[in-house]
Amino acid sequence: MKFFVDTADIDAIAELNELGFVDGVTTNPSLIMKSGRDILEVTKEICDLVDGPVSAEVTATEADDMIAEGRKLAEIAENIAVKVPLTWAGLKTCKTLSAEGRMVNVTLCFAANQALLAAKAGATFISPFIGRLDDINVDGMDLIAEIRQIYDNYGYGTEILAASIRTVNHVKQSALIGADVITAPPGVLKKLADHPLTDAGLDAFMADWAKTGQKIL
Ligand code: G3P
Repeated sequence: MKFFVDTADIDAIAELNELGFVDGVTTNPSLIMKSGRDILEVTKEICDLVDGPVSAEVTATEADDMIAEGRKLAEIAENIAVKVPLTWAGLKTCKTLSAEGRMVNVTLCFAANQALLAAKAGATFISPFIGRLDDINVDGMDLIAEIRQIYDNYGYGTEILAASIRTVNHVKQSALIGADVITAPPGVLKKLADHPLTDAGLDAFMADWAKTGQKIL
């Protein structure tokens, strides 16, 4: 399973990248706003840092403008995946940019039928939003499972990029279902290492080790 980091925070990306945990990065207009940076500048820095796909989102709402924005974003670096919303205009943009050989990430997916359309439009990635479905009392993981089944039924190559991940359980469940990629905030990725029994076990080992009076170095 690939790990993408859902942030435009360069320091946070760099920290995880050093461990080899960053297979790609996803951004969106809200994350760019949070970074306080210029979209073209910060996206270029991220692309220089990370080898895998870096999603940069268009902000136009009409297809012609989205396509123009997408082409401009794609010029930033080879590893840009143009992110478009799952609207009719976004699907048109996906079709056009995919045909030009560009990576496209179709975002704001909340239904299996939307994911089916994105695959037919040639999307490289489909981004179903788990947390935002959970927010309205719908199990976001069911959507991941439905899309997995549909894509497998017909052999679609579009990768399922589980997004709007808020918890470590979202990561585990996405992995069990077989999502190709998860994108999560740095804080969630770092929590994957946590377990109270690991901490307690380490405390006990350290206490016993101190009693031996030994040193390895
Ligand atoms: O990857 C999509 C993500 O940025 C949205 O997450 O937590 O705002 O629903 P959230």
